[in-house]
Amino acid sequence: MARHLITSAIPYINGIKHLGNLVGSQLPADLFARYQRARGNEVLFLCATDEHGTPAELAAAKAGKPVAEYCAEMHEVQSRIAEGFRLSFDHFGRSSSPQNHKLTQHFAGVLAERGLIREVSETQMYSPTDGRYLPDRYIEGTCPNCGFEDARGDQCDNCTKQLDPVELINPRSVISGATDLEMRETKHLYLCQSQMKDELEQWIDTREGWPVLTTSIAKKWLNDGDGLQDRGITRDLDWGIPVKKGDEDWPGMEGKVFYVWFDAPIEYIACAQEWVDAGKGEDWARWWRTDKGAEDVTYTQFMGKDNVPFHTLSFPATILGSGEPWKLVDYIKSFNYLNYDGGQFSTSRGRGVFMDQALEILPADYWRWWLLSHAPESSDAEFTWENFQSSVNKDLADVLGNFASRVTKFCRSKFGEVVPEGGSTGEREAQLVADLTAKIREYEEHMAHAEVRKSATALRAAWVLGNEYLQDAAPWSTFKTDPETAAAQIRLALNVIRLYAVISQPFIPDASAQLLEALKTDDDSWPDDVPAALSTLPAGHAFTVPDVTFRKITDDEREDWQTRFAGKRD
Ligand code: 2FM
Ligand code: ZN
Repeated sequence: MARHLITSAIPYINGIKHLGNLVGSQLPADLFARYQRARGNEVLFLCATDEHGTPAELAAAKAGKPVAEYCAEMHEVQSRIAEGFRLSFDHFGRSSSPQNHKLTQHFAGVLAERGLIREVSETQMYSPTDGRYLPDRYIEGTCPNCGFEDARGDQCDNCTKQLDPVELINPRSVISGATDLEMRETKHLYLCQSQMKDELEQWIDTREGWPVLTTSIAKKWLNDGDGLQDRGITRDLDWGIPVKKGDEDWPGMEGKVFYVWFDAPIEYIACAQEWVDAGKGEDWARWWRTDKGAEDVTYTQFMGKDNVPFHTLSFPATILGSGEPWKLVDYIKSFNYLNYDGGQFSTSRGRGVFMDQALEILPADYWRWWLLSHAPESSDAEFTWENFQSSVNKDLADVLGNFASRVTKFCRSKFGEVVPEGGSTGEREAQLVADLTAKIREYEEHMAHAEVRKSATALRAAWVLGNEYLQDAAPWSTFKTDPETAAAQIRLALNVIRLYAVISQPFIPDASAQLLEALKTDDDSWPDDVPAALSTLPAGHAFTVPDVTFRKITDDEREDWQTRFAGKRD
């Protein structure tokens, strides 16, 4: 049994995420986790809310709440919505947890001991109007790299370049819009990434089979301009993890906190500790410490492309720099962006469909299927209502749903709600079994490599095989002259429904559970042996006709939703 540690990029706490965020990390991570579990592997799947930094402070201020209270509430909200989408996290933690405070301070302490943190006196943007320093997202302006006018102080959303607020052209305060900003002297800690450039480069060069999107972004930041830059890891903010060297105070750093991007990835580890402290697991170290068993673990991270520099460079610099035996990531799966109906999803402008709204209009499986089968892997992808309607109606309703419904209803009318006995199958059935076997092996291959779209294509092709078989075998005609053979055909087809329920579970868990329930079986074992799997339901086994597995989206609904989600979120 293999062991898989799987993490999804941890979403910022500032509000409900849109479908573009979902498909960029949490959902494909869930697909992979579900698949690995279905194959009998041991999985620890972790995610959390990213609660520090300027996004949290700004959102709390907007909501008129103390930031700790805002974060606690939003964690609950995000957690409930994640359940609604059936995201199967073993634990959904919080980067503001005591475990993460301690671990982040620990890493800072060991990095300092090893000479990898330096203190720097520097000038930071200070806003007299706001009476405070303005780090990161408290400032917006024009990107010096690509000219995008709404670049944030920490990163440009347009070209993904990591920025320092002082680099922005025409900077303005996000709080007040003030432009009378001045530079003031303050002291900060820097992580000496530049000292680790060779080690990081060597590590990246020896990663096998990483997606080009991942390695190309990493290489760009390793070698662009002057090469890998040291990063400031502290901020003049109130909310965050207080700067300490392990348990000890850090002279000169009083009142400062760690930068959100320093503590967020450390939460991947702290989250495993939270999982244990919540009584859900026994031993976090065997997942995270190579001296405690984690050398056998395969660790896969999922994230959007804007997160890649932090996961290929900054976080590995923290881990490698500590000199301690922490588990490093084995595979980084990164995604491009999902656009929305001719533009971008936008949290600030409320454009697109947000996770809570999506669940209000349709069950999770409809969204899971569309999003995963259109995941922005090799390039950006676009959500359109036409495409959504057509995928749902064709793939889910016409192909999978229709197969299950035709087979069970025909059986009920001719043989009753029980797997019919007698008869024997012939060449066409043997062909179906062979085709399904080949398709499932292909599906497994893609799933093992987290090739999301290819997996969806293979799965859909497996569903199509059943429909084609039904067309060819036409048991409703066979029945008229040879009811015995029709019985054998339907016995096989009922087993194919069970097979579909099992292999489709990572994509559409609710439909899968509904089909297994209708078939009155809890045998969801993976079809390692497809012919054997297709005789799981024996003659005489009772079932019920399932409710409509997937309904079609009407043109009226599509138009209605298109209008409703075009503008500002209410
Ligand atoms: O981009 C984001 O949504 C960040 N909150 C992701 C953080 S991932 C990690 F470092 F924990
Ligand atoms: Zn830019």
